[in-house]
Amino acid sequence: MAAAYSSHRSVHSVLSLFLALAALVAFARAQLSPTFYASSCPAAVLTIRTAVRAAVALDARSGGSLLRLHFHDCFVQGCDASVLLDDTANFTGEKGAGPNAGSLRGFGVIDAIKVLLEVLCPRTVSCADILAVAARESVVALGGPSWKVQLGRRDSTTASLSTANTDLPSPASSLSTLLAAFARKGLSSTDMVALSGAHTVGQTQCQNFRAKIYNETNIDGPFAASRRASCPATGGGGALAPLDASTPNAFDNAYYGDLIAQRGLLHSDQQLFSGSSTDGLVRSYAASPAQFRSDFAAAMVRMGDIGVLTGSSGQVRRNCRRVN
Ligand code: HEM
Repeated sequence: MAAAYSSHRSVHSVLSLFLALAALVAFARAQLSPTFYASSCPAAVLTIRTAVRAAVALDARSGGSLLRLHFHDCFVQGCDASVLLDDTANFTGEKGAGPNAGSLRGFGVIDAIKVLLEVLCPRTVSCADILAVAARESVVALGGPSWKVQLGRRDSTTASLSTANTDLPSPASSLSTLLAAFARKGLSSTDMVALSGAHTVGQTQCQNFRAKIYNETNIDGPFAASRRASCPATGGGGALAPLDASTPNAFDNAYYGDLIAQRGLLHSDQQLFSGSSTDGLVRSYAASPAQFRSDFAAAMVRMGDIGVLTGSSGQVRRNCRRVN
């Protein structure tokens, strides 16, 4: 009886050891690493960098567009390239969601990079990782900070139109709604304020700031008047204006100076400096480019970690627009 009991115990401890080891292996696999492609595709990062630099040289706005693509990917099902999937007869993707339709740009640049990488190292580099590296290279190309991009994400086999509609923040959001949207993704209020600094580059359509320039009072008068000149009270919803009035194509901290001067163009932007809890951080970033650069870089790494698929989950898509 005693022997049976002890052999039962040793089977049990071997089993626990085995389970602990299996968990450790799974954990190790689930970790991303900056050197993930060092042996499987050593040219991956340089290929993405070269393509992004060429795209930004042709059209500075494309840097902002690529950065935003990564954000809109990560906030919906995690950073799994779900945003890149096209609709098909029996599948509806995220491109038609309110925050994305007629607004997201940069798909052609990602397709071109993927074609190059499928020639260099077939079935190796995921579309989700291309988005993460392209975002970093875009920021660097526009003069912003750099960071080590974690790699090894895999691509989803599904997308979620409904999550894109609920989880991507709207430009009409209040500060508390913005904070809650980022908190839901595990990001802090510092991350939210730092990541919003991405609006130091890129453009927005009249329909997204019309209410701000016609109906709100916490906006600089001459600034509102100049924006009304190209964004009529009715019609012309697609007319573009830079998100950062002072240095629209430079990745700097001028966005925060805009907010202090009440020149935030989106309602959601001005919410970060509206007599509330995030005012102090906006003032810090406006005063210290170095603090903004380092907090932005750290927040991008955290955003790039949201809900990633690793190991044998998901797949490496051969065409970013379609499941294999
Ligand atoms: C805080 C919540 C956010 C809201 C409410 C928001 C909303 C918007 C809106 C409405 C536009 C203009 C779209 C259009 O008019 O077509 C825009 C553009 C942009 N957003 Fe955000 N955004 C937020 C956070 C972020 C974050 C975290 C990033 C990246 C880290 C980002 C990067 C950009 C960029 C670069 C553009 C310009 C894109 C282009 O010119 O193609 N945004 N955003």
